[in-house]
Amino acid sequence: MKKNSLIVSLDVETFRQAQELIHELDEIVEIFKVGSQLFTAYGPFVTRYLQARGKKVFLDLKFHDIPNTVASAVKSAVSLSIPPGNEKNFVPIFMLTVHTAGGKEMLEAAVKAAKEHARKLKVKRPLIVGVTVLTSQGKDDKLEARVLERALLAKRCGLDGVVASVEETPSIRRYCPEKFVVVTPGIRPAGIGMDDQKRIAPPGEAIRMGSSYLVVGRPIIQADNPFKAAKAILKEISGG
Ligand code: C5P
Repeated sequence: MKKNSLIVSLDVETFRQAQELIHELDEIVEIFKVGSQLFTAYGPFVTRYLQARGKKVFLDLKFHDIPNTVASAVKSAVSLSIPPGNEKNFVPIFMLTVHTAGGKEMLEAAVKAAKEHARKLKVKRPLIVGVTVLTSQGKDDKLEARVLERALLAKRCGLDGVVASVEETPSIRRYCPEKFVVVTPGIRPAGIGMDDQKRIAPPGEAIRMGSSYLVVGRPIIQADNPFKAAKAILKEISGG
């Protein structure tokens, strides 16, 4: 079972809810996404909780600001890889997001800050991925071209990959090698509602189209049985 490509998005209100999900999914999920909701409420407390338990953190704060501010925020994110005490097996921050709409200078500043600060702290550098166009935004004629343009910009600026919907993944794959990470949200197993997402796909299809990681929130965290829901998605991933 290819368990490494599933990222569960901890889009919940309280630390207790996050904790319950982390424990429930412990056996089968290795990467958890911490986004603005949980990070705004609990900050490093929640990332450290995961890291101390051997989990990889995808810090999805979508940095988008002037280059200097983004570089400083990236440095702060890299610093989260240092354990607060003497925890053994503390896992460094695995991946973080910046917004490609910030442009070349901002993206280059983010990569440079991550590399330099990780070297200085002697920690593994997190992967830097660029958000292209949110999957809640619907399609228009120029969407695919815009996403591709932003993906190529991200690649030129030295980012490790992008966040894009399954619909744009094949064209990104045509121009970017396998090791360029494509993170795909908007995953909906057959028979599950779209919520606010517009460009959605089932897990198996996303993998077939070339996604490296699938981000799944509501279909798992709001399921009656999150463990079962995650297991079913993992099964689809390995089939894909
Ligand atoms: O619940 P759902 O599976 O739609 O959650 C998707 C997660 O991925 C949310 O946390 C959302 O913020 C995030 N995301 C997204 N589209 C992007 C980037 C991130 O939906 N382009």
